[in-house]
Formats: sequence, structure tokens, C-alpha cells
Amino acid sequence: MSKEIYYPNPEFSAQARIKSMDEYWELQNKAKADYEGFWEAYAKEKIDWLEPYSKVLDESNAPFYKWFTGGKLNVCNQCVDRHLKDKADDVAILFEGDRGDVEKITFKQLSQRVNRFANMLKEQFSVKKGDRVVLYMPMIPEAAYAMLACTRIGAIHSIVFGGFSAEALRDRIEDAEAKVVITADGAYRKGKPYLLKPVVDEALKAGGDSVEAVIVVKRNNEEIAWNDIDNNYNELIENFSDECDFEPMDSEDPLFLLYTSGSTGKPKGVQHSQAGYILWAQMTMEWVFDVKKDDVFWCTADIGWITGHTYIVYGPLAAGVTTVMFEGVPTYPDAGRAWSMVQEHKITQFYTAPTAIRVLHKMGEDEPKKYDLSSLKVLGTVGEPIDPPAWKWYYEVVGGGKCAIVDTWWQTETGGHMISPLPGATPIKPACATFPLPGIMAEVIDQDGTPKEVGETGLLCITKPWPSMIRTIWNDDERYVKSYFGDAVKDGKPVYFSGDGAVVDEDGYITITGRVDDVINVSGHRMGTAEIEAAVKKEPSVAEVAVVGTPHEIKGESIFIYVVLKEQGDSSKIKELVNAVLSSEIGNIAKADDVIAVSGLPKTRSGKVMRRILRAIAKGEAITQDTSTLEDPAVVPAIQQAVADSK
Ligand code: PRX
Repeated sequence: MSKEIYYPNPEFSAQARIKSMDEYWELQNKAKADYEGFWEAYAKEKIDWLEPYSKVLDESNAPFYKWFTGGKLNVCNQCVDRHLKDKADDVAILFEGDRGDVEKITFKQLSQRVNRFANMLKEQFSVKKGDRVVLYMPMIPEAAYAMLACTRIGAIHSIVFGGFSAEALRDRIEDAEAKVVITADGAYRKGKPYLLKPVVDEALKAGGDSVEAVIVVKRNNEEIAWNDIDNNYNELIENFSDECDFEPMDSEDPLFLLYTSGSTGKPKGVQHSQAGYILWAQMTMEWVFDVKKDDVFWCTADIGWITGHTYIVYGPLAAGVTTVMFEGVPTYPDAGRAWSMVQEHKITQFYTAPTAIRVLHKMGEDEPKKYDLSSLKVLGTVGEPIDPPAWKWYYEVVGGGKCAIVDTWWQTETGGHMISPLPGATPIKPACATFPLPGIMAEVIDQDGTPKEVGETGLLCITKPWPSMIRTIWNDDERYVKSYFGDAVKDGKPVYFSGDGAVVDEDGYITITGRVDDVINVSGHRMGTAEIEAAVKKEPSVAEVAVVGTPHEIKGESIFIYVVLKEQGDSSKIKELVNAVLSSEIGNIAKADDVIAVSGLPKTRSGKVMRRILRAIAKGEAITQDTSTLEDPAVVPAIQQAVADSK
């Protein structure tokens, strides 16, 4: 790890909420000494309770932990209504379209639009508390209105990223038994219209029987088919009042589902709760980004991922700041797009993925220098490890050497940041997530709970429940327990294992080393190898398949697929065929960079595929493992040859 240390900007520290490591340790020690008392103080201060809770943390049915039980609140109230007293005319959402169109939506306007939307869901489509609503939306303000409208009436939203295919969308609709789907005709990308609605049509053609209505927002006015089940949002919405009471929700009622990939089986519907989630969303905005009243916060994620949920919609709005929503891509019309937006909107915090930083760096090393980026105070990264050269460029050229970079480690399941520098307090080592946030008990341990020695990679576990944690996997409590509490114990009790490895250095800094399970991370998108393999098996010419991730200069990792064909012979079309099936089963984000036809896979005598060998071959590394125990050791040189021939 780098020995370099970057100290916080003293001017920034002076005004920050957490100003020094002493203050950090004071908070963390407080949490260690009185865990419930620590959280209770924040819950009281931050949340607009409609009815008080009776218990802070209920561990009686572990690992189904409950927080703030008995309390009632409404997350839409927390994000919108309670700001109307003093922020009604402040901008809540600053939308910039792909083609440069800008719309500023104040908290008052947001309230009115969300209320209309909520009334429409209730009155026109009979959506009630607990019903599931799937969103398949582009990055337009209506997506945020739809989320908050669901939240207001107690419906559970499940957002499916717009890059997923009809098959993937149908699976998620069916798993959640959604009553309503909200979509758009399409949107704009790189100056051109594209369509989303036909994907919904396709998904519902062969299933999704629970769906009673599809609501279609018009964004690009391209021609689309209108089926009996479809409803035109733009025509309907005018009929509803902009006043709507919010539903008092129990702290532990589900807030939303978000499907994510695991190491086995189908994607899991991660279920989040109301109070714990929104509390931590707001607190991390205040601690990690240190947002202040007039700040303009831009997170470049898509609302289809957890980062978009927590740091485009819920966190910034709960914290009462302006959140930027961007329809386009940061490289269109040129590599200066993001920087021109920072200049134009005086953006104060910019939060993006390492892949985007690497792309922008590559496309325009000096591009940021052409713009006035002096409004920036904090820069953030998320989703995958960042490499030191990208980190340094971000720090020096984008941040001008004065902005802290918060390398935030967290997951769909954690709801919000877990390990991250604090911009006014933490001396930063480049490309290192540093320390757990106050209140978060993250540890790098063995399976039996023994802390790892300095410099040794171990399992990154969270050894105490935290408010914004996953509550269960939708409809599958057993899988929840097995997926997250089956790998490590501490003091005899199962603890949450993240699936990531990590290492602690001599100063206690935590660096994430990446997934230790069969999950790969392409451009910050998490994909299960099992899920990709199941899709590839649908290609009729494929007999066997094994998928691994391999390092990629820009994307972090890329998908590398080995296939054994049913009939040996011409394999020149196999990459095309495999990518076509991946595109239709999962979506274009699952496309492979390498698809190699091999004569056999390296298997043990019991038939287990030795992925470690396949990973090493994909990376071009020498095989250090003993291959004599393989069923057929000769497959190894044959695979090496096939990979070499493909280059
Ligand atoms: O492997 C870790 C990686 O992303 C995974 C979580 O993916 P997902 O649930 O899709 O959420 C992504 C956005 C929070 C983790 O298990 N990851 C996330 N943040 C970092 C990271 N890897 C290294 N450094 C990070 N800062």
C-alpha cells in the first residue's frame, strides 16, 4: 500500500462536522461503549417521528434485527414535507437532460408532484400499503417522484436498472409479484432517443401476470405501442390533487426492494426498512460528504443501483440539499461534460465510480483545467477499488489538491456507506477506504472471528447489526441467513460477511481487496458468475461453461467465459452467440470481452470446476497449483493454448 498520506484541507476541517481523528475516535468509542445510546441520540435528533419508538435495537430473533421498533414515521415526509417550512423555494432536484435541458424543481414543486403521483397510484390504480411497484425508468425527475410517491403511501418500490433485458425485468417483476410497473417511452443518450417501453411489453408478453397496470411517462415522444394495460402518465396526472396525506409507517415496514447478484442462483431481492435506512442515508450525507444547506450534490449513479437510491434521492433530500439528476453520460458531447456541469451548477460534492474516473482521465487528462471547478469541496468514489494513478488524477487535477477524496466502501445490502474517510478528519492514503464510520463495527477476521494480522487478507465482516442493514431477502429468509451469516462467527455468534476480502495496515487503515466469492465487478456493476453461466447455458451450442472475472484497465474487471461446445469444430461465431444470449437474458452490461471455446474444463475428480486455474489462465499467469489431482490434467495446457490463440 502507498505510504503517502494526504491530510485534510485545514480550512475545510474547520467548518466540518467531524473535524479531526480525535473527534472520530471519540464518536467511535462512544458507540463501542453504549451502542444503543449512540444510535438513539441520532434517531431522536434526525427523524421526524410521528410516534415514538419503544426499543432501539431488538436482537431477539437474530439475524433478523429490528431497529426503533414501535416507532412510526414516513420517509417521504422526512425527505420532502418537513423541509417545506424553511426550504420550500430551495431547489430540491436539479435535472440536466442529455441534450443540456435544465429543470430546477423546488421542494414545494417536488411536494406537489409527488403528491399528485401518490394520489394517482392510490385512486386510479388502487395501490395500497405493502403493494410492490416496479420502476423501469430512465434518469428523469419522474423516477424520483415515483419513488417518493410509493414511499408516501407505503408501497414498496423495486427499481430495475434500465440496462436490464426483458427477461431480467420479468424475473424481478415475478419474484416481487408487482402490481404496477412504471416506465417511460424512453429517454435520450448521446443526443439520440432510445426506447424502454418495448422492453416492458416484451417482459409482460410471456409472464408478469400480477401486473394490473403499466404507467408510461413520456420523455422523448417516440412512437411506442399502447396496450390495454398501459396508461399515459402525462394525460392522467393532471386529474389528481397535489395534496395527499402520507401513510404513517412502522420503522420496520419494508421501504424498498433492490435486486442484486450473489454467488449462487438468481438475483436476490434485498429488502430495506424505513427508519434505519433513512437515518443512515441522512447521517452519511452529513458525515461523509459534509453537506451544508446551500450545497449542490451530484452523484452520477443511476437510480437503478443502490448508490442512486441512497445518494441521489433519499440521502440528499433527507439532508435537505439540492441533488443533481443527470440523464446523459459524462463523455457526451465531449470529455468536458461533467466538468462543465460542475462549473455551470456550482457543484460542491461530486460522487462517481472509478470506471468513470478512468474513462475521463483517459479521454481528457487536462480537460478539467479548462473549467472553473472551484466550487468543489469533496470528491467521492464508490463501487469498485480505485487504482492509485486514477486516484491521484482525481485528487490533483479535478480537486486541485484541495478536496478530500472519500473512497466509500459499502454494498446494496448495507444501505449506506460503511468504511470511508471523513473529509475534515481522516488523513487519507490513496485508494484506501480507511476506517469504519462511527457506529459501524467493521472488522477483518478469520471465519472463527480471530482478527487478521497486519498485512494479511481476511474476511471483511460487520460484527454488530447497524440501522440501515438489509432486513431479509424478499420471500426467502433462509437464503438471507445463509448468504450473509453463514461464513463467519465472532464470540460464538454468526456475523455479517460482506463477500469482500480486506487487509488492515500497521496504522489500522482498511483496504478492500475485492470479492472473495464468485461475484465479479464490471465497471462497478456486480454480477454473479452463476447467473451468467445459467444464461450462457441457454445458447444451444454450449455444453459446458465457466465464467471468471479478469482485470481490465478501464472497467476494473471484465467477463471472461470458457465454453465447451456440444460439437467441436467451427467456433468463430461463439463470442457473438454467447453475447447475444447474455444480452437477452441479462442485458448488455453482462457482455463478455472474451469467449473461448475449449475442449474441456479443469475439474476435480468429484466434478468441481477449478476456477482458480481458469482465473490464472485468463490473467496470463503461471499455474502454481498442483494439477495432477485433476480428472484430466491435459486440459490445462490445452486451455492455455486456446487462450493464447485467441489473442
Ligand atoms: O466488492 C465491493 C464493491 O462493490 C460491492 C458492492 O456492490 P453493490 O452492492 O452493487 O454496491 C455498489 C455500490 C455501493 C462490494 O461488495 N465495492 C463497493 N465500494 C467499493 C468496493 N470495492 C472497493 N472499494 C470501494 N470503495
